[in-house]
Amino acid sequence: MVCMARSRTRKRLCKLVLAGLSILLLLSCLFVRRKVKARRCTDQESRATLRTLCEEYTRNKVTGNLCPDLCTTHSIIYRQCLNYRKGKKVMLAEWNTHKVILKSKYDRLQDYNSIVSRYMNDVGKMVTSPPDMATFLTMVKHQLRTMFEIDTPDISVVETLQKMCPWKKGKTLNQVTMESLWALLQQDEYLMMQYFQGNEHFPKIYGSCGHFYVMEYTPPGDTLSPSLFNFKTGRELVSSTDWDSRAKVALSFLTFLEDLNTFHTEPLHLCDVKQDNYGVSADLTIQAIDVDMAFFEMKMRGILGQENCTKNEDCEFFDCLSTCDLQRKRCSKHRSNNNLQAICKKIFVGYNGLPFGGLLRSPPAAISDRLDNALQECVKPSDNYGQSQKASSETLEMIRDLLQESLHSNAPSR
Ligand SMILES: Nc1ncnc2c1ncn2[C@@H]1O[C@H](COP(=O)(O)OP(=O)(O)O)[C@@H](O)[C@H]1O
Ligand SMILES: [Mg+2]
Repeated sequence: MVCMARSRTRKRLCKLVLAGLSILLLLSCLFVRRKVKARRCTDQESRATLRTLCEEYTRNKVTGNLCPDLCTTHSIIYRQCLNYRKGKKVMLAEWNTHKVILKSKYDRLQDYNSIVSRYMNDVGKMVTSPPDMATFLTMVKHQLRTMFEIDTPDISVVETLQKMCPWKKGKTLNQVTMESLWALLQQDEYLMMQYFQGNEHFPKIYGSCGHFYVMEYTPPGDTLSPSLFNFKTGRELVSSTDWDSRAKVALSFLTFLEDLNTFHTEPLHLCDVKQDNYGVSADLTIQAIDVDMAFFEMKMRGILGQENCTKNEDCEFFDCLSTCDLQRKRCSKHRSNNNLQAICKKIFVGYNGLPFGGLLRSPPAAISDRLDNALQECVKPSDNYGQSQKASSETLEMIRDLLQESLHSNAPSR
């Protein structure tokens, strides 16, 4: 009797503890959700941003080829905001039934430097003066030089400006147009995206309104960024995304990396490598959708070489690593890893924080061991000289050959 009573009390105690733990878990989940939500943009803020933009358009303060669609005919309709509160503005919208992305580094036009210089005149009165066309072109030239580290000859500044804002026709620009263009030209990501237009690995830019530009919608999707569980279909996505699609996306990453080395006179370094920053188009082409942390060689050297250090770990700039010169206590300006190493590590082998492996998880048995070796070599290149963590072009070719082999053979996926 006594024993039975004891076991019942113990069971009750167990239930009580379990209930307590569940409530605690629920409360902490709610707390984390609230914290995350508080860091994210709200629809209210984003709609207000667009309302202000359209008011400025109506008052002829901003312009752009897509202002009529956004503000007059309303064929571009706001759907959702995607950014963090303190970051740049990223909004999902619908344009004639197609999804598009609206982006701007800052919320308001006033957050950008104006082209109009304000100064006190001789009698102490504030005077504003917009630049003439020649001055504006000099400003553009300077802006492009800081971004691309190339000196644009005067003769081709007009052409380059045309490339940066292809929808702007005509050689002279009025003040409103200059002001809107100038806000766009202050956004490194815009310049980069515009510079790479025509390359299949960058989303198309359709145009702009004021300081916002409108680009192709290419989300990472299920192939690159699978959810653990799809509540709609009740299926596990991680296992259901098939090898062939993943192999094609990985192959696209490899051509993307080669393009980054050859498109410009200097290679482009990717320093923020994670699946959220890449989109996958319908034909499984990878596109760079966030290039805030992408730098051409000279700029990269400037960033890496400015840090003081006592060990190599002090010289890590996100996914761009360099080594510490212990005598000078300065980081080397030369990157010690490369894009391929970072992509292998963060995309092919592992996703940030997710336990089930990266894009190239569970390969077909026929290539499994060889791919595993190639990926290991890619993430941790065997280096004869000690410091370099650059994955070699031979490793790239090895991975490419194995992926192609797996696609050509009819080997069943594991
Ligand atoms: N062109 C695009 N197509 C689809 N989704 C996009 C695109 N650009 C951005 N996004 C979405 O918006 C999010 C935030 O945009 P991103 O440019 O990466 O901003 P952040 O610098 O804050 O990371 C991305 O993680 C992605 O989900
Ligand atoms: Mg991002």
